[in-house]
Amino acid sequence: MLQLEQIAMRYGEGPEVLHDINLTLERGDFIFLVGPSGAGKTSLMHIMGLIHTPSRGSFRIFGRDVVGFNRDDLSEARRRIGMMFQDFRLINHLTAFDNVALPLRIGGAREREIKELVYEMLEWLGLTDVMDAKPPSLSTGQRQIVAAARAAISRPNLLLGDEPTSNIDTQRARRLMRLFTELSKEGTTVVLSTHNDELIDRYPHPVYHLEKGRLTGQTRAPTQLAAAD
Ligand SMILES: Nc1ncnc2c1ncn2[C@@H]1O[C@H](COP(=O)(O)OP(=O)(O)OP(=O)(O)O)[C@@H](O)[C@H]1O
Ligand SMILES: [Mg+2]
Repeated sequence: MLQLEQIAMRYGEGPEVLHDINLTLERGDFIFLVGPSGAGKTSLMHIMGLIHTPSRGSFRIFGRDVVGFNRDDLSEARRRIGMMFQDFRLINHLTAFDNVALPLRIGGAREREIKELVYEMLEWLGLTDVMDAKPPSLSTGQRQIVAAARAAISRPNLLLGDEPTSNIDTQRARRLMRLFTELSKEGTTVVLSTHNDELIDRYPHPVYHLEKGRLTGQTRAPTQLAAAD
């Protein structure tokens, strides 16, 4: 599903910020990515989300090496990825509703179906009262929830959440986690970066540690996850 082998990355001519990353994820895997600020979590997630290109190593996703991707392959693969950016990256001139609807519209869904799915999602996340508002007039937490809804709405094959609950109240954060869990049970591979120890303690998923651009280890093996189920 996703395979990184000896991946490194640098920004422009700058120093390498990721080194020798090896990571394989299967369909339905759910992992946390942790590490101090500047460790490279966002950079790694941007590689997985096809936002940045590695400077060396091999990256396979959805059964293919990205080196062989042409522009159409890249667009198609990106449509299968739900990305929740650390800085949200919502479209400011679209309403909250239309931001969430965007992946479905791009995917060519019917307007009636879009209305139903988006409303249902916003209702689950407690956001229907502000669905006609535009991002600049929303609170930080509300914008984060919109970003989460947009990432999850099309039930992507890969869902990447960069600090997905950092600004959200506990109740909504739990609802969001239930949504991610449900998606992963249906086959979505979920990767969440977080600084939130409570989140990690509460959910049994494997935790991958990133330090100074290197994956330094993993705590909680998937077998433990199965035992905890
Ligand atoms: N756009 C950029 N241009 C140049 N260097 C960058 C850029 N973005 C990040 N870096 C550098 O890459 C390294 C990893 O940063 P990254 O944002 O991936 O860390 P992070 O683990 O996500 O941190 P945080 O927990 O603060 O979000 C840092 O040394 C940072 O200075
Ligand atoms: Mg980051």
